[in-house]
Amino acid sequence: MKVCVIGTGYVGLVTGACLAHIGHHVICVDNNEEKVKLMQAGQSPIYEPGLSEVLQSTIAAGTIEFTTDLAAGVQHGEVLFIAVGTPPLPSGESDTQYVEAVARGIGRNLNGGYKVIVNKSTVPIGSGDWVRMIILDGLSESQTALKEANFDVVSNPEFLREGSAIYDTFNPDRIVLGSDVPEAIAVMKELYAPIVNREPSDDKTLPPVPVLVTELSSAEMVKYAANAFLATKISFINEVANICDRVGADVIQVAQGIGLDSRIGNKFLQAGLGWGGSCFPKDVAALVHTADDYGYEAALLKATVKTNQHQRLLVVEKLQQILKILKGKTIGLLGLTFKPDTDDMRDAPAITLAGALTRLGAKVKAYDPLISHSEIRHTLSNITVETDIETLATGCDALVLVTDWKEFQALDYDKLASLMLHSVLVDGRNFLDKNALQEAGFNYIGMGH
Ligand SMILES: NC(=O)c1ccc[n+]([C@@H]2O[C@H](COP(=O)([O-])OP(=O)(O)OC[C@H]3O[C@@H](n4cnc5c(N)ncnc54)[C@H](O)[C@@H]3O)[C@@H](O)[C@H]2O)c1
Repeated sequence: MKVCVIGTGYVGLVTGACLAHIGHHVICVDNNEEKVKLMQAGQSPIYEPGLSEVLQSTIAAGTIEFTTDLAAGVQHGEVLFIAVGTPPLPSGESDTQYVEAVARGIGRNLNGGYKVIVNKSTVPIGSGDWVRMIILDGLSESQTALKEANFDVVSNPEFLREGSAIYDTFNPDRIVLGSDVPEAIAVMKELYAPIVNREPSDDKTLPPVPVLVTELSSAEMVKYAANAFLATKISFINEVANICDRVGADVIQVAQGIGLDSRIGNKFLQAGLGWGGSCFPKDVAALVHTADDYGYEAALLKATVKTNQHQRLLVVEKLQQILKILKGKTIGLLGLTFKPDTDDMRDAPAITLAGALTRLGAKVKAYDPLISHSEIRHTLSNITVETDIETLATGCDALVLVTDWKEFQALDYDKLASLMLHSVLVDGRNFLDKNALQEAGFNYIGMGH
């Protein structure tokens, strides 16, 4: 099928590349010329495991193209994905200006032939009808002879996880399609058939991917509710960890004990210094805002956010308990990205923590397996980004493990302890071997552990 994906960030580029990989002919549109040039040269502007390989093979197969020309993309696509960003406004509401610009542009460039316009961006409840309205506005402004609209809008929320986005796209837990138009749903089912039938997967014993067809607004709500639930689950275990700290229980054992209950499950029960990234914070805030708009106070979700804000700064309290005055101390952060295997630092706990430590007069250094070797490191204020671990540890009063990058488990902690002024380590993810660190001479501080 002919597909156009508008917006080539973590979601759009991965979606476009994976759809091209399963044989669709995809045109990816982005208004960032530099990004488009990079992608045309076969390079990915973002880091995502496996993405470069899929990009290069699809470019070689001729199933993917990149352009800044929205009109060309709109005219090519039978299915048009809107995958631009929806960042948060200070009020918590989603900023939908990029979706609006794209919807208007689609309307202005519609040609004949039935098209399905897919909201892949996470958009506030009710945006499906709003996007339809903006497309029609765009159509009425256009110079083309086309006077009749022949399109439907479908909500198809995205659940991929950064760091395993390619895997998740080929192996989703479910595909949610929101529309009450059978023709639009049929087009979407045809588009996703190879993924539903597990064609890209090596494991042919897997059952087909469940496809859930809902009303448009319910599909939009599924996305917010899923992220709000996961964020709440993490805030819950973090709260339990804080109580464990006080009563002397170990949250790792407690999480095992409750996670074995099949009604609870063991995922998202790792206590730590809180959730972050480009999705959870903004999606929970947007859902709280939507509830407010409709006269409902989402008290549980507000508490989820508050617990998380506190959790990010708990490390500062733990450092103060050990080092007392932080003014003039040097703190080394292990990891900067909001999770491992990504270069994304949007709303990363490391940034909040560095800001708080700097305000208290500490010097903050960091090492991150990706950011330390990327140009992004020059964009960070308050943090000196080192390019190797030993330089990071040298002269530090404490290390804080912020991101659970696998390679941090294999560091030579004996050596690192010898380079530090005080061998204090706060394990903000309960990720390291406590006994081994204590044997290396570290004062190990976990999160409820
Ligand atoms: N990142 C994730 O893990 C994730 C997961 C699920 C859903 N989402 C949702 O998907 C959406 C996209 O997220 P992302 O992380 O990929 O965003 P992103 O910021 O990485 O990418 C957005 C892209 O859109 C482009 N863009 C903006 N305006 C444009 C325009 N008018 N025309 C063409 N291109 C334009 C930007 O240049 C950028 O490349 C958001 O709504 C987000 O909430 C993200």
